[in-house]
Amino acid sequence: MYGRALHQKAIVMPQTATARAHANLAFVKYWGKADASINLPLNNSISMNLNQATTITTVTFDDRLTADQVVVGDAPASAAFATRVSKHLDRVRDLAGNRSHAHVHTVNTFPAGAGIASSASGLAALSLAASAALGLKLDERELSILARRGSGSACRSIPAGFVEWYAGQANDDSYASSIAAPEHWAICDLAVIISRAAKKIPSSEGHELARGSIFSQVRLDQLPARTEVIRRAILERDFATFGRETEAEALAMHAIAMTSAYTAGNAWHSGVYYWLPETLELLIAVQEWREQGLPVYFTLDAGPTVHLLCPAEAADQVLAAVHATAAERPGRAWEVLRNDPGGPAVLIEP
Ligand code: DP6
Repeated sequence: MYGRALHQKAIVMPQTATARAHANLAFVKYWGKADASINLPLNNSISMNLNQATTITTVTFDDRLTADQVVVGDAPASAAFATRVSKHLDRVRDLAGNRSHAHVHTVNTFPAGAGIASSASGLAALSLAASAALGLKLDERELSILARRGSGSACRSIPAGFVEWYAGQANDDSYASSIAAPEHWAICDLAVIISRAAKKIPSSEGHELARGSIFSQVRLDQLPARTEVIRRAILERDFATFGRETEAEALAMHAIAMTSAYTAGNAWHSGVYYWLPETLELLIAVQEWREQGLPVYFTLDAGPTVHLLCPAEAADQVLAAVHATAAERPGRAWEVLRNDPGGPAVLIEP
């Protein structure tokens, strides 16, 4: 009788786990997919986890639920995000051979629309929490592959610190691993937020358009050499080489976006502009700061936020330069978020 009660309890007991993952910032960008159905990229990419930009996700599988429930902060998720989460849970359920629905609660420690993608940290934390809740013991590579299916860049939020995503040829060999621990190099990202307005072309569409640019193949041809230089510069803590190549790579990505034609509302557009006028003002300011001796370079993702990269010891000086430049003209309400290299995705107590 006692044994039976225990057995029944085991069947109905919800299976739960909580995970934390950091967003990441790419130095070599993932831009363009070889196979969109599994987020297989056209090229290797390199990134750094962002220690202050974190998603914490709790997944609870419960036989009594008749549908997945997704809550972000204290409000139900948008339909689009809830669908994305359910699709990802399906991948985990398939791996575990379990059909239970789940309650998912997810919180970001950083603001939306700030130019730091919550999909990377969110899908990485979801992959770890959901697989652990169902008792799957995935190793780092398997977790990275799983996270990649949810959002390509999420595979880089599984390992620690400085990370390379090996493009691979198929599902099982496209994953990310750490090339250096977070403590390896004290550099930081000062993300200057210029606008929080939603972008017109989400990055998933930008990926699709990339191949249409006349510069796409040019970039892909020179990327293996550039990726090698950036990897080595990180390993050797060679900031000038790292900064130069990273900045040039960001501009190559944006040159492709700006020459990726698309049609919207029946109107033809010659390219995607993720920049705003103040983005360009800031990029020009960075060049001037360098002329004045400041060690600072920039990178940009698919949005107007400018990510300033500098050695940690120069962060205060760079911040002062940002504030001084912002004060030069009325209306520049730039907000700055600082991130240092961050750790891996981990399971935590709720
Ligand atoms: C510009 O990973 O958001 O940030 O795989 O469609 O979810 P999906 O795309 P996503 O693309 C990120 C693009 C980028 C560059 C990068 O992070 O490497």
